[in-house]
Amino acid sequence: MVVLDNLQKGHRAAVADAEFVLGDIADQDLVNKTVTRYGIEAVVHLAADSLVGESMQQPGKYFRHNVGKGAAFLEALAEGGVKYFVFSSTAAVYGEPREIPITEEHPTRPTNVYGATKLMIEEMLRWYEHIYGLRWISLRYFNAAGADPSGLIGEDHHPETHLIPLVLQTALGKRPVLQIYGDDYPTPDGTCLRDYIHVTDLSTAHVLALEALAAGSPSAVYNLGNGNGFSVREVIRVAEQVVGRPIPVEVAARRAGDPAVLVASSARIKAELNWRPRYNDLETIIRTAWAWHRQHPDGFARIMNIDYSGARTINGQ
Ligand code: UFG
Repeated sequence: MVVLDNLQKGHRAAVADAEFVLGDIADQDLVNKTVTRYGIEAVVHLAADSLVGESMQQPGKYFRHNVGKGAAFLEALAEGGVKYFVFSSTAAVYGEPREIPITEEHPTRPTNVYGATKLMIEEMLRWYEHIYGLRWISLRYFNAAGADPSGLIGEDHHPETHLIPLVLQTALGKRPVLQIYGDDYPTPDGTCLRDYIHVTDLSTAHVLALEALAAGSPSAVYNLGNGNGFSVREVIRVAEQVVGRPIPVEVAARRAGDPAVLVASSARIKAELNWRPRYNDLETIIRTAWAWHRQHPDGFARIMNIDYSGARTINGQ
């Protein structure tokens, strides 16, 4: 396996002992050389800017990075003869849900630029299949959460915007209070419901997708969630049980663009790829995240004194 990352958001330490190429997906010369050198047939594309709020303030950045660089990447891969492509997509392609749970048949009308950029890549994939025969699977994640059960790999975002890391950082005293973004939604306790899915179950789905493509499966889109909606207050309550202490909260204004309820139907990937989530209860998800945050309160910063000189710089060297 080879990992290519520009490390703008990613962490070298999270790559562990896989082959690592330092560079940008839009560097077509580098992508081409990497594909050739390693004889790459299949690619999992995870690189993107992914903050919904930021995408509405800086749409150009999202179109340039997610769509523009994504297009350059796809072109280089297709020209290089890559056969299979697994894409990290999002529930944000659906927009405001018309019915719950959301199936893959639900209309795709994104309400933010981030979701729109992911949908545009899905559309490009259809053309690359038509023209180059590239076969692809797009995985539409709902709320990715939790950490690797080893406790060695977890979330480390700057800035952090996601609920569970923020709740746990508040529990650690790194933040004074957790703000609940609105408690007047039409939900049982007034806070938003989300479908949290463990990262290990997400990663298993990627492996199944690659295996299916290699075995001849047709291109497809699949939702990835657990089919259960948990409210912000429920997440905080379970987190308090896991960490064994109260977590200070305050109710703040709604965050623009947050739908009240997002819950997936993942029936299709279960039926077609035999995907079976293993870490599908909220307590386990939060427990694995807590193991990571408690042991690594500064994220990857102190895990490894990173030496980039070991990174492959295939480009011209
Ligand atoms: N929330 C708070 N306080 C916080 C942070 C979040 O109340 O400090 C709430 C949000 O309003 C939301 C829920 O917690 O109701 C979950 O918020 P996250 O930011 O953790 O996740 P989102 O549901 O906003 O985002 C996720 C993915 C995105 C994807 C989006 C689809 O992280 O990539 O779902 O809408 F685009």
